[in-house]
Amino acid sequence: MNTANAETPVRDRIEVPAHPTWPALDETAKEALKDRIKRLLAEQDAVLVAHYYVDGDLQALAEETGGYVADSLEMARFGSESGAKTLVVCGVRFMGETAKILNPEKRVLMPTLQATCSLDEGCPADAFSAFCAAHPDHTVVVYANTSAEVKARADWVVTSSIALPIVKHLHARGEKILWAPDKYLGGYVQRMTGADMLLWDSACVVHEEFKGFALDRVRRLHPDAAVLVHPESPEEVIDQADVVGSTTQLINAVRDLPNDEFIVATDEGIFWKMHQLAPDKQLIAAPTAGEGATCESCAHCPWMAMNALQNLAAVLERGDQEIRIDESIRQRAVIPIQRMLDFAREHGIGQRRDTR
Ligand code: 13P
Ligand code: SF4
Repeated sequence: MNTANAETPVRDRIEVPAHPTWPALDETAKEALKDRIKRLLAEQDAVLVAHYYVDGDLQALAEETGGYVADSLEMARFGSESGAKTLVVCGVRFMGETAKILNPEKRVLMPTLQATCSLDEGCPADAFSAFCAAHPDHTVVVYANTSAEVKARADWVVTSSIALPIVKHLHARGEKILWAPDKYLGGYVQRMTGADMLLWDSACVVHEEFKGFALDRVRRLHPDAAVLVHPESPEEVIDQADVVGSTTQLINAVRDLPNDEFIVATDEGIFWKMHQLAPDKQLIAAPTAGEGATCESCAHCPWMAMNALQNLAAVLERGDQEIRIDESIRQRAVIPIQRMLDFAREHGIGQRRDTR
């Protein structure tokens, strides 16, 4: 699955799990579970680091307990700055791996290690390594949504909040870029920077489902709404955006723009933080597969949905879902991640701030 411009959606090329169904908790049971988690976090000197796409209860608990809710760049940064002995990453596996790569001395747990990502799954390390070897004159830039092995083969790691400035910087130095794995984000970066980029062919199963024709129809119904799009979306969706950006950048847009209505093309988990920061604004989910669609999970990542209060409590009790990375891979993978964090610091990009 590399540079070919495959028409087949990624959903049909990899195995996508069904959304897990968690038993409903009444308020009393939920509060008891949260109290148990709070006690375990304190006993184990552990903090929660959550992504905006996980369940709102987990995001709220992270904030209540001195943890952090953020995009993938800020999650990495928070993990390194935190003094806690254990990081409990609520998100997907590459986020837990990044935390471990940067903090080998810390224990990094996740509610489940099964929570992967279609981009990670669509970029196996062996095939990727062969692709790199076939283009030795290219600078290898990989998206954070990849395995530790793939990062170990890269010159740079980027997240969606920093991909544009880093590629602009490399392009200005005359470097040709080999980009993996998200072809839509890569295509967007290529169009915005004019850089010479060779793209791996993979995509996010959630964002690939947003459809340009259906979005156009919704925009006509809400002509005053601002359209917010995550750059993992297809070009015809990005083309209709008022703001294209990382999850934090889209959240900031809801808080800062004067519009009362927003059409949001990203995972619906983000609505929790958007509502929290701008409770009076109306949020409209961008349409996915269009009329007659049968897709149940289009706008919610099935892997992010594997995080819940129930398995968070269980991992704190059992300690079994721990991220472990081979030390030789870790030592190579930390170099391009640290290069990204240094670049962010030097250029004042995405500095951590309180989103509460
Ligand atoms: P952000 O870095 O924008 O949070 O994106 C992570 C991700 O997985 C989006 O699908
Ligand atoms: Fe990966 Fe897409 Fe899920 Fe983000 S939303 S973690 S890119 S599958």
